[in-house]
Amino acid sequence: MSKYQAHKIFIIGGTGAQGIPIIQELVKDEKYTVRVMTRDTESRRAKDLAALPGVELFKGSFANEIDLTNGFEGCDGAYINIDGFNCGEKAEIFWGIRAYEIALAAGVKFYVWGNLDYTLKKANWDPKFRCGHYDGKGRVGEWVLQHATPQMGVAAFTTGPYIDMILAPLTLMTPKIVNGVVTWSVPLGLGEVAHVALSDCGIYARWLFDNPDRANGLDLEVAISHMSYEEIATAFTNVTGKPAQYIDVPLSKYFENFRGLDTIGTVLKMPNMSIWAKLRFGLQFSTQSPASYNTDPTDPSVMTFERNFTGFWNIWRESQGNKGVITRNYELLDEIHPNRIKSVEEWFRKEQEKGDLWERVNNMVPVLKWSEDGASGVLKLALGTSVLPESKHLLFHGPAVAKVWGELTSHITRSRLSGVDNDSSVGKGGICGSASATEERTLSTKSEAESNAGEVDAPRTTNNAAPAKPALKPNRHAHTSLIHEVFEVTKQTHGLSKA
Ligand SMILES: NC(=O)c1ccc[n+]([C@@H]2O[C@H](COP(=O)([O-])OP(=O)(O)OC[C@H]3O[C@@H](n4cnc5c(N)ncnc54)[C@H](OP(=O)(O)O)[C@@H]3O)[C@@H](O)[C@H]2O)c1
Repeated sequence: MSKYQAHKIFIIGGTGAQGIPIIQELVKDEKYTVRVMTRDTESRRAKDLAALPGVELFKGSFANEIDLTNGFEGCDGAYINIDGFNCGEKAEIFWGIRAYEIALAAGVKFYVWGNLDYTLKKANWDPKFRCGHYDGKGRVGEWVLQHATPQMGVAAFTTGPYIDMILAPLTLMTPKIVNGVVTWSVPLGLGEVAHVALSDCGIYARWLFDNPDRANGLDLEVAISHMSYEEIATAFTNVTGKPAQYIDVPLSKYFENFRGLDTIGTVLKMPNMSIWAKLRFGLQFSTQSPASYNTDPTDPSVMTFERNFTGFWNIWRESQGNKGVITRNYELLDEIHPNRIKSVEEWFRKEQEKGDLWERVNNMVPVLKWSEDGASGVLKLALGTSVLPESKHLLFHGPAVAKVWGELTSHITRSRLSGVDNDSSVGKGGICGSASATEERTLSTKSEAESNAGEVDAPRTTNNAAPAKPALKPNRHAHTSLIHEVFEVTKQTHGLSKA
């Protein structure tokens, strides 16, 4: 047996669109068990996964060293898909690298990094192709492969836009029905997208863990094929008999389509999103806000939704016929997965077997978890003294709201630093289900305050040696006066006066 053969795999992103088919494939027989990190063990997707044999849930966040350390403990494999649409490009690079280092320390034998193409490099550094959620992953992908060590095998698994998103709401390629014609209006020109079938991701990921000696050092770049949107529309009609079309729209017009009432209308129909999430999501969406929902819009490194996805579409506008910015080795994919889906028409046919596609396009359900949740998830889990969630929901906040939020959280942090000590009984990563109990740990007052200040988590003690400090309660008086302060900031920002 290979020295890199894993049996118990720690998974980040397991409840997501990509993670679910991978877990299903890994646990379909008894060869592997998995531990799935999630911020919410009670979510529908988490519960569905926990019902599968060999799956245990682990409550925690990838943006926390203790959670990462406890998550890897006792596992000898890892599948790590850090959600860049949550934390943003900069934090993804940090946590991507830290996750790898922590896995090495934990004795993991085989590590798979959920990757995307490092497109800026592939496009010879032309800023036209700058796309943060690709470059963030791609940089880490290169870094992990360059930092291979004899004790841990490592592979990158490079995917791309899920084909499943062409029939789902709130994606970049959600179709509309215009006068009875299924219509994809995207700024693709004559370009082609190397879409990926989620159902095949499971098979590829399983192959990596099943063949660790061959997979070690490999960047497995997958796709169905390079496909134009003409081809997608024609294939839809061939399979369903219903009319479909592709309309090439200029980038400016494309982004306008995200601004109107359409987004609100779509959001209101979302089946699993709370009313509060619907309102926030629908009303606050802005193409000028960060492309990632828990990043600071005043951070100059953060790309707006519009800039990020302008780069995204430029990448695909200039990829055609398996030439250009993004290419794939389809012969290798045929060898690894001979029954892989090889065309969009084949994908439509397989999906049609699961349920009527015309019905599906008229009643689309989310594929991505963040869109199902209305981008309401946090980056780090709340600690004991939190009075407000950390800086979340910023994807859909305009700069003014973000400014108010920044004032709010820094005020709370200041008031905490002046009068709060630790109550660290909650907010710990923990395993649910069949796993052994997570080690008790105590957070030092300093690291908690740092954490609440929105900085990167400092390493925390994993023993019970809590520093002896007087236990104080949050300064509630300060929070009451905060309301006035927020009003003042809002007033200044919007020129409002009291009615
Ligand atoms: N959309 C695409 O076509 C596509 C294609 C390839 C790669 N990607 C990349 O894949 C990543 C997103 O994964 P996805 O496509 O599966 O999206 P998704 O369906 O929205 O899933 C997001 C996943 O990330 C987890 N997550 C988010 N924040 C977390 C945190 N702080 N700690 C731990 N887990 C956290 C979520 O878990 P819980 O909610 O349960 O905590 C969920 O499992 C992004 O980086 C994106 O760039 C996307």
